[in-house]
Amino acid sequence: MTATLVANIGQLVTNSDKDLGIINNAALVYENGKVIWIGSNKDAPSADIKIDAKDGTVTPGFVDSHTHAVFAGDRSKDYEARMSGGSYQSGGINTTFEATRKAGDEELRENLKKIISQSRGSGTTTIEIKSGYGLDVETERRILSIAKEFTEETTYLGAHVIPKEFANNRDQYVELVKGKMLDACAPFAKWIDVFCDTGAFSVEEAREILTAGISRGLKGRIHGNQLGDTGGAELAAELNLASVDHCTHITDKGIDALAQSGVVATLLPGAEFFTKSIYPDVRRFINAGVTVALASDCNPGSSYISSMPVIMSIAIREMHFTAAQAFYAATMGGAKALQRSDIGRLNIGASANFVIWDAPSFLHIPYRMGEINREIFGGDERI
Ligand code: NIG
Ligand code: FE
Repeated sequence: MTATLVANIGQLVTNSDKDLGIINNAALVYENGKVIWIGSNKDAPSADIKIDAKDGTVTPGFVDSHTHAVFAGDRSKDYEARMSGGSYQSGGINTTFEATRKAGDEELRENLKKIISQSRGSGTTTIEIKSGYGLDVETERRILSIAKEFTEETTYLGAHVIPKEFANNRDQYVELVKGKMLDACAPFAKWIDVFCDTGAFSVEEAREILTAGISRGLKGRIHGNQLGDTGGAELAAELNLASVDHCTHITDKGIDALAQSGVVATLLPGAEFFTKSIYPDVRRFINAGVTVALASDCNPGSSYISSMPVIMSIAIREMHFTAAQAFYAATMGGAKALQRSDIGRLNIGASANFVIWDAPSFLHIPYRMGEINREIFGGDERI
């Protein structure tokens, strides 16, 4: 085995169970993809390979626990209309699924590769990818099989919206999603998700679909409370899902349900930014004891962005995160939302997924919206 020493780290962010676990003037050694030593630079052991961090900052790579990165087509006109006063509606998803159905595998794969390379370039080392722009058996299956080429964190979201052809027959679509479509998609998915919201799926429909997926061995997560307070958070608590994502419109009762059940609240400030929506206040979640994650929601409709540093900057400015809370939510929070203990941190035994930033502290990441020279190590390097 070849051990690698990362020496001369000005600031090392390790992420402990409760805080950033910062060590100044540090060094780190990894071998076979795992961290095997962390300590003071002056005590660093020798190793086969040495990387000089040149007094920069070393952090865990970001864990982007929520993206819809496999799609085709262009929604820039929706963006333009929204910025000049139009409202965001879930129905825009129809434009994307029409283009996605028509696209061949190669086109979808090439589009995804571009997003993944931007995401990785901004410091993300683990990315979750959902389906949801196929909404028929074959396209949902194709999307998930392509996503699985790049990450193990794949999510079946056949229940994104009711496609137009089932507009007058929603029960039949729900049957399809929890029947034939689930059969075709389950081999490529680790997670199942439902968009439980105004204009999408009701709590009852979401419960049926999630329960079907969970009994097939998938793990559950949910889009909830983005467009209205329609019960997604309470359902997440009831079904003990890993995470409820968006939480833009959530009552104190919903927040209490998350705190009681340990469901992670994944906040997606890109969606509020690009839909000109109100921002949830993270202090309500943190004061109630809810674990919070930050993710990009990268998708062509409501948040066409993959940069976690930008997401952190928006969260700090608009959602009352401190910089430390935002960084923790974008790394450890994402890991918790994906129920992973091997990523999002740099303790002994953790995956050696890290970023060397040419900056004196992690604070420079949101302060400069990520415009810092950086080198990325570990994580999914499948492109
Ligand atoms: O997470 N909320 C549902 N789905 C996406 C938006 C998808 C779209 O508009 O294409 C989201 O914001
Ligand atoms: Fe989403």
